[in-house]
Amino acid sequence: MTRLYSVFFLLLALVVEPGVRAWSKEGHVMTCQIAQDLLEPEAAHAVKMLLPDYANGNLSSLCVWPDQIRHWYKYRWTSSLHFIDTPDQACSFDYQRDCHDPHGGEDMCVAGAIQNFTSQLGHFRHGTSDRRYNMTEALLFLSHFMGDIHQPMHVGFTSDMGGNSIDLRWFRHKSNLHHVWDREIILTAAADYHGKDMHSLLQDIQRNFTEGSWLQHVESWKECDDISTCANKYAKESIKLACNWGYKDVESGETLSDKYFNTRMPIVMKRIAQGGIRLSMILNRVLGSSADHSLA
Ligand SMILES: *[C@@H]1O[C@H](CO)[C@@H](O)[C@H](O)[C@H]1NC(C)=O
Ligand SMILES: *[C@@H]1O[C@H](CO)[C@@H](O)[C@H](O)[C@H]1NC(C)=O
Ligand SMILES: *[C@@H]1O[C@H](CO)[C@@H](O)[C@H](O)[C@H]1NC(C)=O
Ligand SMILES: *[C@@H]1O[C@H](CO)[C@@H](O)[C@H](O)[C@H]1NC(C)=O
Repeated sequence: MTRLYSVFFLLLALVVEPGVRAWSKEGHVMTCQIAQDLLEPEAAHAVKMLLPDYANGNLSSLCVWPDQIRHWYKYRWTSSLHFIDTPDQACSFDYQRDCHDPHGGEDMCVAGAIQNFTSQLGHFRHGTSDRRYNMTEALLFLSHFMGDIHQPMHVGFTSDMGGNSIDLRWFRHKSNLHHVWDREIILTAAADYHGKDMHSLLQDIQRNFTEGSWLQHVESWKECDDISTCANKYAKESIKLACNWGYKDVESGETLSDKYFNTRMPIVMKRIAQGGIRLSMILNRVLGSSADHSLA
């Protein structure tokens, strides 16, 4: 009996796990598309060189790759790089305190990973490619983790695993709080306002920072004095949003619907825009013509 149960739970874990803790495919695709569209020619060229041929020069087609391989034996070390667990109710991020894996492995969190892969990519432009590192993987990891760090619930509380253990309903179907932020809000927005057309949703986001209400903020979003620590700022923003909007007024077992959707949707859209704009800022600095020499 026990044997059977463990097999059952193992299977269940295999089925359920892949969805856990990841901006949905849609979120990552949009973030990367926004970023790629904003690359300067030199950086755009470098990205194309780094992508495998089968990507056809399309960064966003591979931005979910780190989610696909995180359970492979070879890449198990990456699984804690997708998020940050902060102390329950602290509503703050402290790199020294929080950026480690469950076994205490230092820097093993999404902010540490962004630093790591940004500095690895820095070697590419300077022709000092280090054989220890695979630059294609560095590009894909950086692009993916810049999305993750902007998803507020990826910087969440430890005991509920960033909202993963807060089961609830999203309108009529079962979900959990983490997944609501990874995917449900994006899909509901696409369904309600864009006839489920993700490309139309993406264009709406892009319009809102090229000519719409976010235009005046774009420069401040891109501000980053020290490229090795800017990820800490993004993580701090996320945990604040998680507290003020994600967890706020949510009880396990309840049904979230219009009221939650209408107030949180603008935040999700803004985070996708910020993630994409900031990814382009980093790629332009690291791979562009005025590449920052302090990195290599
Ligand atoms: C790039 O890939 C994404 C994700 O697979 C896809 O939605 C998009 O249409 C592709 N873009 C082009 C120009 O093929
Ligand atoms: C940085 O990347 C290397 C592989 O390229 C890996 O061994 C190391 O664990 C990574 N560290 C972090 C914090 O991402
Ligand atoms: C770099 O990583 C990619 C993706 O995992 C892989 O396809 C490629 O063969 C690797 N390149 C080298 C030189 O190991
Ligand atoms: C874009 O801005 C308009 C006007 O403020 C707003 O109604 C719409 O929801 C925004 N779209 C997205 C995807 O953020």
